[in-house]
Amino acid sequence: MPSSDPPRGGCCSRFCSSLFSLGFLILIYWLIFQPHQIRVYMNSATLSNFSLSDPTSTSPSLSYNLSLNISLRNPNRKIGIYYDRLSATAFYNGSQLGQTESNFFESFFQHTKSTRMVYPVFEGSQGDLSKDVKDAFNNDKNDGAYNLDVKLNAKLRHKLWFIKLSFKPKIDCWLRFPLTANGSASMAAEPVPRKCRVKY
Ligand SMILES: *[C@@H]1O[C@H](CO)[C@@H](O)[C@H](O)[C@H]1NC(C)=O
Ligand SMILES: *[C@@H]1O[C@H](CO)[C@@H](O)[C@H](O)[C@H]1NC(C)=O
Ligand SMILES: *[C@@H]1O[C@H](CO)[C@@H](O)[C@H](O)[C@H]1NC(C)=O
Ligand SMILES: *[C@@H]1O[C@H](CO)[C@@H](O)[C@H](O)[C@H]1NC(C)=O
Ligand SMILES: *[C@@H]1O[C@H](CO)[C@@H](O)[C@H](O)[C@H]1NC(C)=O
Repeated sequence: MPSSDPPRGGCCSRFCSSLFSLGFLILIYWLIFQPHQIRVYMNSATLSNFSLSDPTSTSPSLSYNLSLNISLRNPNRKIGIYYDRLSATAFYNGSQLGQTESNFFESFFQHTKSTRMVYPVFEGSQGDLSKDVKDAFNNDKNDGAYNLDVKLNAKLRHKLWFIKLSFKPKIDCWLRFPLTANGSASMAAEPVPRKCRVKY
């Protein structure tokens, strides 16, 4: 009895071979063009008004004013990069400063071998702190330096001719702000410039 269904084996092998050619194309892409990850540097970082209000209270709040100068470098010779989404969040002791993501940057296209600066600013005060955050603040104060972590969330497309591959790298910049001896109002991160960790 003739059947109109295509043989299962044939269907699978067609699927497998298209998967295989896709894999092969990606392999060729990586071998020929040797794409590099973006490089991210913290050029400068200033922290001011960093303090715990009413530390004896059960729910003190942490105020902060953090200004950053970050550069994003596309080191590739042949690959342009679309930044479809780029935002920054700051964390202290694992707690996000601010309830929502406050620093979104316009999407842009980055040409080969070029650098783009972004200047995130985090300003405000964070309530409902956990005991850990209070402990961390006091420990850092005793140690003589505050440690903050800035994360960039990026959605990128690497473009080569008609080929576009999407990536969502994780970008982490750890910052250390030594307290100044005279307790001056603002602190600069050390050392800068500093390379941020980028993980594709
Ligand atoms: C950001 O840092 C770069 C590199 O140090 C510097 O050239 C640039 O002028 C800085 N931008 C601002 C607005 O300070
Ligand atoms: C926050 O810091 C920036 C730069 O360090 C400064 O220009 C700004 O006035 C500060 N804002 C407040 C409310 O102190
Ligand atoms: C520091 O932050 C707190 C809370 O946001 C604000 O009330 C205070 O005015 C700020 N101080 C300065 C000097 O910006
Ligand atoms: C937060 O600070 C506490 C007290 O210093 C510490 O035990 C804890 O590991 C810190 N957590 C993070 C995520 O840094
Ligand atoms: C506090 O110290 C910093 C750096 O050590 C210095 O730049 C600043 O001028 C000092 N401020 C005062 C009021 O002495």
